[in-house]
Amino acid sequence: MSAEYEVHGDVAVITMNNPPVNGLGYATRAAITRGLDQASADASVKAIVVTGAGKAFSGGADITEFGTPKATAEPNLHSVIRAVENCDKPVVAAIHSVAMGGGLELALGCHYRIAAPGAKIALPEVKLGILPGAGGTQRLPRVLGVETALNMIVSGEAVNSELLAQQPGQKLFDRMAGSAESLLEDAIAFARSVAAARPLPLVRNLPCKHPLGDAYFQFARNMVKGMAKNLPAPAKCVDAVQAATQGRFEEGLAKERELFVQLMLSPESRALRHIFFAERATSKIPDVPPDTPQRDIRSVAVIGAGTMGGGIAMNFLNAGIPVTILEMKQEALDRGVATIRKNYEGQVKKGKLKSDKYEQRMGLLKTTLDYQDLKDADLVIEAVFEEMGVKRQVFEKLDQVMKPGAILASNTSTLDVNEIAGFTRRAQDVVGLHFFSPANVMKLLEVVRGAKTGKDVMATVMSMAKKIKKTAVVSGVCDGFIGNRMVEQYGRQAGFLLDEGATPQQVDKAIERFGFAMGPFRMGDLAGNDIGWAIRKRRALERPGMLYSRTADKLCEMGRFGQKTGAGWYDYQAGKRDAIPSAQVEKMIEDHRKELGITPRKISDEEIVQRLVFALVNEGAHILEDGIAARAGDIDMVYLTGYGFPLHRGGPMLYADEVGLFNVVQAMKRFQRNPRDDAKFWEPAPLLARLAAEGKTFN
Ligand code: 3HC
Ligand code: NAI
Repeated sequence: MSAEYEVHGDVAVITMNNPPVNGLGYATRAAITRGLDQASADASVKAIVVTGAGKAFSGGADITEFGTPKATAEPNLHSVIRAVENCDKPVVAAIHSVAMGGGLELALGCHYRIAAPGAKIALPEVKLGILPGAGGTQRLPRVLGVETALNMIVSGEAVNSELLAQQPGQKLFDRMAGSAESLLEDAIAFARSVAAARPLPLVRNLPCKHPLGDAYFQFARNMVKGMAKNLPAPAKCVDAVQAATQGRFEEGLAKERELFVQLMLSPESRALRHIFFAERATSKIPDVPPDTPQRDIRSVAVIGAGTMGGGIAMNFLNAGIPVTILEMKQEALDRGVATIRKNYEGQVKKGKLKSDKYEQRMGLLKTTLDYQDLKDADLVIEAVFEEMGVKRQVFEKLDQVMKPGAILASNTSTLDVNEIAGFTRRAQDVVGLHFFSPANVMKLLEVVRGAKTGKDVMATVMSMAKKIKKTAVVSGVCDGFIGNRMVEQYGRQAGFLLDEGATPQQVDKAIERFGFAMGPFRMGDLAGNDIGWAIRKRRALERPGMLYSRTADKLCEMGRFGQKTGAGWYDYQAGKRDAIPSAQVEKMIEDHRKELGITPRKISDEEIVQRLVFALVNEGAHILEDGIAARAGDIDMVYLTGYGFPLHRGGPMLYADEVGLFNVVQAMKRFQRNPRDDAKFWEPAPLLARLAAEGKTFN
């Protein structure tokens, strides 16, 4: 039973009950129609209320059923809505908390709607790469007007019920309930008051026009084109709403259905649906159950006020959590605080932050040169120089001063978190919190779980990540963790491509056409090529004989560190960021090829994309097999939120699934034959080889 049926005097109440959000899965749909039949057959029932149990009216179609026979099994959502419309007794939707997607579409099929204040109303299907497929594109414009409805459908954003109720001429809500608590009582009273009304009003009978007609839709289409380059759904939302203004209601519905089916089958929608679930799965750690006790995080300390320390501190200030930053010298503190101020002032200037909020946030920030001032912090995050000796000093000191139970975190990007934990007598309290630069902007947070990190520490930092609005992904301890370990292979391939005959601009353009915002060489110029140079020098000591292209080192030897030195892989004009192909770099690459005795060959864009992306995939497969990441979806989330992997591809691992793992392996075998490349690396990871042989996928 996924909906309950109760009779209150002469009003029947059907309560959807399918936790967590009353998704309209098969069982719920069937239970609603049974409730309608029962109410129709009962002469003592004069009106019907439909509502939802728990924390939602309904979150919409059950996304877990997509692609399964249950999704379309009768009664499908269309049939349920039709049954509501055709019911001979008035049906009132009593909306609270969340009415989204199919949930809102069901409410729009009801004869009347009453809403509690504070309910989130949305047609968010576009975020899943589809459009509302149960009449939402046809009915919402009829009750809210074309423009408001189209904005909601194209953006997928939720709007507060009170705000919608205040809109002049709106026909979405017939009544507002006094409060969420009184909703059911108010709905029953309202249902009683309309029990005798005939004919019963139907949204489908309302007119739907825009004063500018098709010209408005042309304008809307141009707008969404700019917004969603690689995603087909927003433009199709415009087509569907336009259809609502053109023909009969049933024709519009048929058009909506046609577009819905097209989008549902698109790779972009598969990618976005994968992201929906992957994003939610990252917070679940297999051996850390949801009821694991958590520690309180009421105050935070940050060690180091450099590039990362300042950004990390801002995350907590934004969430209303007091932060104390410690540095070695007052000048460093002053510089760090000035940078934080500058960032906030930028936001105030752009109108993104109110000045009183800015002052409030700065009021939560303290600075110190003395460890004693940190001792009561619940969480301390170290962001000092990337040297084990310095980390050792800091953690030994923290071990002495911090109160028992404080969580000690390191923002290290390459060092061994277990070794760092070993500098303390409380390894269970030590964890890696690897933020990405700029730390106040980037969504990704790799949570590095040490061998001895306590489960309660893991549970605590995962929920803390939610509070500071990060996508937290758990990584085991290894060089580079998930993201940087994979990007090293991507970078190596980019280098080999240059040696073999490609130019930086060709490589960048090819991968940018694939959907990355920036190719590896433009990215290197932005981040500073010297950073990778330093890492390569360290790795060369640790892994002698490692095969990689020397072009990036030669570039750095020329002093071309990137935008900050006015020259990198590209030339830059003073004050501008446009990447101009460089004759000097081209010559360096050619000379290097000659030194190596390589005759350059023409490399296709397809090969460039495959070598860059499959390098990520193969390393990702090793990472999964080594247990560094728990799921392929976690790896995808790392790449989507930390490395600019194109959203519409769903992440490297999903992309590999889409291409087909057999095809990925075949391509890798071809790359093994490239004389300049690393044949050993292209040996498919055992997990990849196994899945490919069995015709399976990562996800
Ligand atoms: N179907 C199935 N499961 C759903 C769901 C849905 N429509 N919406 C949410 N869930 C699940 C989540 O996967 C999650 O499961 P988990 O606990 O196992 O990870 C759980 O509900 C809670 O979700 P959140 O963590 O997101 O909880 P919040 O309280 O933060 O948010 C929400 C609740 C606002 C409903 C948010 O989950 C949301 O935006 N959901 C998506 C709603 C959506 O896209 N609806 C449209 C569906 S498509 C449709 O209706 C097609 C129709 O037009 C034909
Ligand atoms: P940074 O050089 O900008 O800042 C380091 C700060 O730490 C300096 O202000 C320095 O004065 C201070 N410091 C050094 N030793 C200290 C000590 N013993 N006590 C107190 N303060 C001390 O460095 P950045 O870039 O902020 O990096 C910090 C850490 O974050 C490193 O471990 C780095 O690997 C990591 N990281 C850096 C990223 C980046 O993009 N810059 C990204 C992710 C992690």
